[in-house]
Amino acid sequence: MNKGTVLFSDNAFLELNTFLENRKNTISKIFILTDTNTFKFCLPPFLEKMPNLSEYELIEIEPGEENKNIETIIGIWDTLTDLGADRKSLLLNLGGGVLTDMGGFVASTFKRGMDFINIPTTLLSMVDASTGGKTGIDLGMLKNQIGVFSLPEMVLVSSEFLSTLEARQLRSGLAEMLKHGLIADKKHWDNLKNMEDLDITDLDTLIKQSVQVKINVVTQDPTEKGLRKILNFGHTIGHAVETFYMNTDKMLFHGEAIAIGMIAEAHLSTLETGLDLNDAIDIKNTILEYFPKTKIDRKDFDAILDLMKHDKKNISGVVNFSLLDNIGSCKFDCKANTNDIENALEFYMA
Ligand code: GLY
Repeated sequence: MNKGTVLFSDNAFLELNTFLENRKNTISKIFILTDTNTFKFCLPPFLEKMPNLSEYELIEIEPGEENKNIETIIGIWDTLTDLGADRKSLLLNLGGGVLTDMGGFVASTFKRGMDFINIPTTLLSMVDASTGGKTGIDLGMLKNQIGVFSLPEMVLVSSEFLSTLEARQLRSGLAEMLKHGLIADKKHWDNLKNMEDLDITDLDTLIKQSVQVKINVVTQDPTEKGLRKILNFGHTIGHAVETFYMNTDKMLFHGEAIAIGMIAEAHLSTLETGLDLNDAIDIKNTILEYFPKTKIDRKDFDAILDLMKHDKKNISGVVNFSLLDNIGSCKFDCKANTNDIENALEFYMA
């Protein structure tokens, strides 16, 4: 099996059981990384499916983006050291995007690298964060500034865990699925658009379609030299908005911020890459059906624009966008001037 392979549903757990059986003489110790939520809600059903996982050490961290920092990482490195982890150990990351990003980073750097497996428990991490090898942490307020590309041995996607999520968190993952349709798969966009409600019993096929878009992109460009940048559609403005409202009473989930970013960047796409204005309006109306509008004060535009200057995609200080030329097709390395970015935010607000 290739590193980074994504496996679905019960087959995923069967494969992990087989993997553990085949490697029982070479893996020195198994660690499971959870946060306090996944420890309670996801660990018991996971262990039930894992008869070959009888001996392991548990490491539990606090959930939430506010803990995605170097202090948490040092805590995990220290615990691994105390518990006798070495290069032949295996880390199982059971959690959402924050946890799998951090667990991947810990595993990739501990003693210069041990194997890890991602078991995403949120929709967002199933369709995006757990796949493709991006790992890392935030630096102060700036998201994902420190990290490495490093593929997990495998990713296990089981929609069973989604029943543990509150509705707002489930919806957050939908934003990345909509993005996948917009950048590379019009049929997927249409399927999502025609969905009656966000009901987890119907999500399996849609999750697979989304993961397939992500895999197609990252296998062509694993370290984001070019094509992979299309996965950042909606993220230049979205990340800035997310950072701006972090630690305020208008704090946004990642997908909620990306929903705003996608609407604004759809408008920017009409100005820079020739997206039809009717398509931008369709994108706005569809996204707003799921994500109620956040009121962004015009006096905050400058601060939000300022945050875009720290975006990781920028080169030599020039803000970089990935923009649509059609629904289902995306260009990367696009530029936009301040005026157009402000107009894009106005389009969202109108
Ligand atoms: N989340 C975007 C990427 O993995 O490249």
